[in-house]
Amino acid sequence: ETPAAVIVAIDGPSGTGKSSTSKAVAAQLGLSYLDTGAQYRAITWWMVNNGIDLTDPTAIAAVAGKADIVSGTDPAAPTITVDGTDVAGPIRTTEVTSKVSAVSAVPEVRARITDLQRSIAKGAEVGIVVEGRDIGTTVLPDADLKIFLTASPEARAARRSGEVKGSDVKATQEALVARDKADSSRKTSPLAKAGDAVEVDTTELTLQQVIECVVTLVEEKRAAK
Ligand code: DC
Repeated sequence: ETPAAVIVAIDGPSGTGKSSTSKAVAAQLGLSYLDTGAQYRAITWWMVNNGIDLTDPTAIAAVAGKADIVSGTDPAAPTITVDGTDVAGPIRTTEVTSKVSAVSAVPEVRARITDLQRSIAKGAEVGIVVEGRDIGTTVLPDADLKIFLTASPEARAARRSGEVKGSDVKATQEALVARDKADSSRKTSPLAKAGDAVEVDTTELTLQQVIECVVTLVEEKRAAK
């Protein structure tokens, strides 16, 4: 008997281990994987590349539907393209990282990307792990399992600067706290914990422990379906 499709939403601020956890859980359980932050980064990359004035929400809204963003959902090798171009590298630059909050705050951008996310989740026959900021609250409010990952700002900055070569922890922490503040305070679907989400504080946990914890929760949900 094939297990029923299971939809898992994993939300939380940056540096909590969302991506590493989501990918590993999906791989371990044979589920698809969607990195929604990569989609917001991809549309931001397109706007930077096309000279859009990112201080002007009206200008952003006017071109919200222009870029063709395609996400590959294999957790072992996730991909992201814009108009057929592989942008996995370019979407991680500090320029895109510093501009993504402004772009993702625009309602027309969110509506467009949310539609894309819902159709990908619907098409995942075995089930999917979707990671982001508003998945449990807005994108997939009927998800089978919602996880909200947290960690202290110090732990999050230490993890992030470990990923980016030559970066300094203090500057990383400041940029990260500023981005979380922008993402949590925007009007349209801010970063927030859904009422029915399970909160996991990862400050004192290893990545392996977080993965095990989430895998157990998914297996319980699957068994109960
Ligand atoms: O997860 P990340 O750091 O790659 O996300 C980049 C940005 O995208 C983040 O600062 C806010 C935005 N984002 C969002 O608004 N909603 C999501 N579901 C995911 C990301």
